[in-house]
Amino acid sequence: MTDAISARKIAAMKRLELREAVVIVTGASSGIGEAAALEFARAGSRLVLAARRADRLDSLARKITQEGTEALAVPTDVTLPASVAAMARAALSRWGTIDVLVNNAGFGVFGKVESLDPDLCRRVLEVNYLGAISCLQAVVPAMKEQGRGQIVQISSILGLRSVPGSGAYAATKFALEAVSQSARVELAPFGIGITVVRPGRTEAEFTEKSVGRRSLRPRGRPMPAEAVARAIVRATRARRREVNLTLEGRAMLFLDRWAPWLVDRVLGRMTRGEREAEPLSR
Ligand SMILES: NC(=O)c1ccc[n+]([C@@H]2O[C@H](COP(=O)([O-])OP(=O)(O)OC[C@H]3O[C@@H](n4cnc5c(N)ncnc54)[C@H](OP(=O)(O)O)[C@@H]3O)[C@@H](O)[C@H]2O)c1
Repeated sequence: MTDAISARKIAAMKRLELREAVVIVTGASSGIGEAAALEFARAGSRLVLAARRADRLDSLARKITQEGTEALAVPTDVTLPASVAAMARAALSRWGTIDVLVNNAGFGVFGKVESLDPDLCRRVLEVNYLGAISCLQAVVPAMKEQGRGQIVQISSILGLRSVPGSGAYAATKFALEAVSQSARVELAPFGIGITVVRPGRTEAEFTEKSVGRRSLRPRGRPMPAEAVARAIVRATRARRREVNLTLEGRAMLFLDRWAPWLVDRVLGRMTRGEREAEPLSR
């Protein structure tokens, strides 16, 4: 009983109050980012919406404002340091704090490793990995000063186990996982936590907008972006270390831990017959 009470108390102490928290979501113009912004708004947070498509951000900001919370649309390219710095400045000059950063902006590149375009490999690293580091660096000084903050890294199930055709994209998420592990320990003394969320296949523009072989893009029944968004908000509030999403994703990670050779074999069978001749398409 005593144990149960103290565990509850500890969980309550750990919880992050999302009402009026200032939350920056990168990649808020579609998919998981847009759904997450709406979900944080429902929890009473004040939103900074960051992505390149200003028109999409403006209409999302209007929708959030009409629903009774505040939102600021800040057109941002996460690969441009000046643009990222302006995003953090916009949050601070409007509200004076930054409580949560959701590092979500990203896209996919799919194709067999032997025929990957090095320029595309570089570009996807710039957005998914270096962009996320740049955003983290932009918010940490304010979070350190406040003595609190939560950085939510949108990784992927493919950030722990890659599959055929996903090497270039998965590499960006493996890299994000590595910096998240380091940053978690480095930032803990300042009251800043790191949550890693690993979605499986999700309904978003992602699959359509990804670059590369269509037949090698992730398959399987997608999870609605709204369900991923709810999981992101729950994990942020509870300041969880990590969350793996989709049953298929969890099953693959479990199996990979005990029998990686079996996962290789199953994946090999699933992608047997892939034709290398299929052209790359945007
Ligand atoms: N969908 C899936 O199956 C799936 C699975 C696992 C993980 N994920 C991850 O989830 C995250 C969100 O993707 P999604 O599925 O929601 O796809 P999405 O609908 O294509 O959203 C991607 C978002 O990233 C933004 N973005 C891309 N490049 C950017 C840049 N240079 N600067 C700022 N923003 C940029 C896009 O906005 P603009 O074009 O307006 O800039 C868009 O808002 C990504 O990190 C992705 O890797 C997705």
